[in-house]
Amino acid sequence: MKDLAIYIHIPFCSSKCYYCDFISFPGMEDRMDEYMNYMMKEMDLYREVLSGYNIRTIFIGGGTPSHIDGRHIYNVLEYIHSNFNCNGLEEITMESNPESLDEEKLNIYAQAGIDRISIGLQSLDDGLLKGIGRCHNAKDFYRAYDLVRKVGFEDVNLDLMFGLPNQSLRDCRDTLEEAISLDSEHISLYSLILEEGTPMDRWYEDGRIELPDDELERDMYHMGQELLRTRGYHQYEISNFCKEGFECKHNLYYWKLKPYIGFGLSAHSNMDSRRFWNYSSFEGYYNSLDKGSFPIEGEEHIDTELEMAEYMIMGLRMIKGIDRNEFHNRFHIDVEDIYGAVLEEYESRGLLDMDGGSIRFTPRGLDLSNLVYVDLLPE
Ligand SMILES: C[S@@+](CC[C@H](N)C(=O)[O-])C[C@H]1O[C@@H](n2cnc3c(N)ncnc32)[C@H](O)[C@@H]1O
Ligand code: SF4
Repeated sequence: MKDLAIYIHIPFCSSKCYYCDFISFPGMEDRMDEYMNYMMKEMDLYREVLSGYNIRTIFIGGGTPSHIDGRHIYNVLEYIHSNFNCNGLEEITMESNPESLDEEKLNIYAQAGIDRISIGLQSLDDGLLKGIGRCHNAKDFYRAYDLVRKVGFEDVNLDLMFGLPNQSLRDCRDTLEEAISLDSEHISLYSLILEEGTPMDRWYEDGRIELPDDELERDMYHMGQELLRTRGYHQYEISNFCKEGFECKHNLYYWKLKPYIGFGLSAHSNMDSRRFWNYSSFEGYYNSLDKGSFPIEGEEHIDTELEMAEYMIMGLRMIKGIDRNEFHNRFHIDVEDIYGAVLEEYESRGLLDMDGGSIRFTPRGLDLSNLVYVDLLPE
């Protein structure tokens, strides 16, 4: 049986953050029951397809999964357990927002088998949180974090962002120091991406907000890397840090380009050299399911050339990089035979380290990773 990771998309939020372009909608509480029923219909369609797969990880993301009724989360996981092969299940993660977590929901998540909770914190500065449109403050976060621990979750991630409007290096360090002192098992540290079409992007274009310049943004990242390292967190991916043994298995799975299936609005899947994605409108998604068809909006065949490039790009995101033997076992050819010239060039420019059995970014390479990615893609 082949291994498979499952992603479940919950496209509801209590409000829309100014920087966010994920498929997530505020003010649609009245559509939640209907949506979850449709998602079960989608899973029904996959029962036969997935009969040859062993589910290894589940990630419930969004949107804000903690914004919907806990019973929906329980039902969807119960469905997966009853209908798919879950004997080898290693991890179930759920994303959450501080303001929507309560003890009752957390108990339901624990009963449903969720063993990893990710909390979107971003910053502990109330002014900064307000400036990016978060609908919680630092106090809400502390309350939620205490509850998560009280209920007994032992694998907790905090999502933090840096490079925010008006954020100083000091603000960034203060939040990180405080987050570290809470002793969460995992910390994700994301640099703000200005996504086209978001309010924040427009305000930046109109000169209504200022962002840290590139140098300050890099200083924040380097400060974060160093602080986390000295406080017992090891970096295992460009944006991810954890205590020993607490890497997110689902994400490792994804970066290693193993098969995954996504359920729900806009969810992407990658199986058998085929990438496909669901409708991102409720209407498109529901209409397909009403007709008994897979709610797939588009698909792409992944040929070996593209698969190799993606394997390199995703693999280099991980700090330990790409294992030459694993590349050979997967593609039956040496990595140098395909990428020798590019790898040599970036090694000589100090962006790649190629000693021993692996190929990985140097610290400078991590900062300039996009340069390398572009040269790995097929023409
Ligand atoms: C898509 S959200 C879903 C979970 C939850 N709703 C939340 O906001 O935490 C997951 C994380 O992605 C990060 N994120 C979202 N949009 C981003 C952006 N434009 N740039 C950088 N990080 C972003 C935030 O740290 C956020 O916590
Ligand atoms: S709560 Fe999370 S998913 Fe929702 S808008 Fe904010 S960042 Fe996006």
